[in-house]
Amino acid sequence: MAVEVLTTADGRAKTALGRAHSARWFAARAAGQPLPVGHATPPDQPARPAQPDLLNPRDVPRRRPGSPLGRIALLHAVAHIELNAVDLHWDIIARFTDQPMPMGFYDDWVKAADEEAKHFNLICDCLEALGSHYGAMPAHAGMWRAAEDTAHDLHGRLAVVPMVLEARGLDVTPGMIDIFRAAGETQALTALEVIYAEEVAHVAYGSKWFNWLCGRDGTDPKDVFHTLVRRYFHGNLKPPFNEAKRADAGLPPDFYWPLAGTGT
Ligand SMILES: [Fe+2]
Ligand SMILES: [Fe+2]
Repeated sequence: MAVEVLTTADGRAKTALGRAHSARWFAARAAGQPLPVGHATPPDQPARPAQPDLLNPRDVPRRRPGSPLGRIALLHAVAHIELNAVDLHWDIIARFTDQPMPMGFYDDWVKAADEEAKHFNLICDCLEALGSHYGAMPAHAGMWRAAEDTAHDLHGRLAVVPMVLEARGLDVTPGMIDIFRAAGETQALTALEVIYAEEVAHVAYGSKWFNWLCGRDGTDPKDVFHTLVRRYFHGNLKPPFNEAKRADAGLPPDFYWPLAGTGT
């Protein structure tokens, strides 16, 4: 099921399939007949639509969020992040089945994958209501790099994807919400508020399973986190941090502050 989602290119088709598979997974769980986890080989790179063109981040035009076009560009960037998140969550489900994990690990990522599909569709709806669509503008290449860098390291995947990248989403989303509130764009405002509320749990799933693995290994999760983020993440973490939401997600300050730049 995960590989089917990963190998479907169109965003709306990918997310519809993912949501159907999530519903099947949880219906089977509720019926007391869980689906077997199984084994599969996910693709090195997920299938993606022909548009948007993927550019080096340096070459993606910057637009001011104060203009309507700037706000469409911001939503387009969010849609791209959400589609990448759909693939990241199905990838973690398929990628690491060689190591036995409790069923709750799969429940968490299937739920997160389902929410990412919802987020992508909510933002696509906003873009379409504003006369645009996902694919209408160039988007960042290289978003899959974190997945490639950690394709053979579940600890590293959890450290970098949910606990660094998705936690970064908690830091920056309130600023985006303010932009759309000030512009009176209520559809985007509502969509971003849904995303902001649900992303806390994704960071929490990352933190939970990272701590679980370290507990199983008998290692100090903070030390392992620092080692793995320095190994796989390129650059420093950027303050200011959303300390309150990071706390809600089970991410203590002594995990992320030592990885921040000097901030000056
Ligand atoms: Fe999301
Ligand atoms: Fe997420």
